[in-house]
Amino acid sequence: MSDLSRIGVAIDSDLLHKFDQYIGQRGYTNRSEAFRDLIRDALIEKTAEKPDSIVVGTLTLVYDHHVRLLSDRLTAMQHDHFHLVLSTLHVHLDHNNCLEVLILKGKAAAVQKMADALISTKGVMHGRLTITSPGAAS
Ligand code: NI
Repeated sequence: MSDLSRIGVAIDSDLLHKFDQYIGQRGYTNRSEAFRDLIRDALIEKTAEKPDSIVVGTLTLVYDHHVRLLSDRLTAMQHDHFHLVLSTLHVHLDHNNCLEVLILKGKAAAVQKMADALISTKGVMHGRLTITSPGAAS
């Protein structure tokens, strides 16, 4: 960790009030940590926009395993891109629905493309990719 710098921030009172409410609801006990997290979030988002940046993605999928060949199709897509898949978790949510969480690592463009392909597969009811980037915000 580098040296700690202190900064002063001029901010509109109404905006600061809204910010305090926002961070209070999220459990922050001080503004500094909330500011730091917002900055990290912006830096990671910027990194993820560069196609060749190395990112880690957490992809959540929900699908009905009764849809014909869907499980096979999703598994085949993961094998096609096995070098991007660090780990998977499968949970049988109920009689019909499966939840899958995939941890993906690779170039941002490749991770996004794979996530888009899985999410848009017919029968996948919900999918969301969350990107982080080791080192981008430290
Ligand atoms: Ni299942």
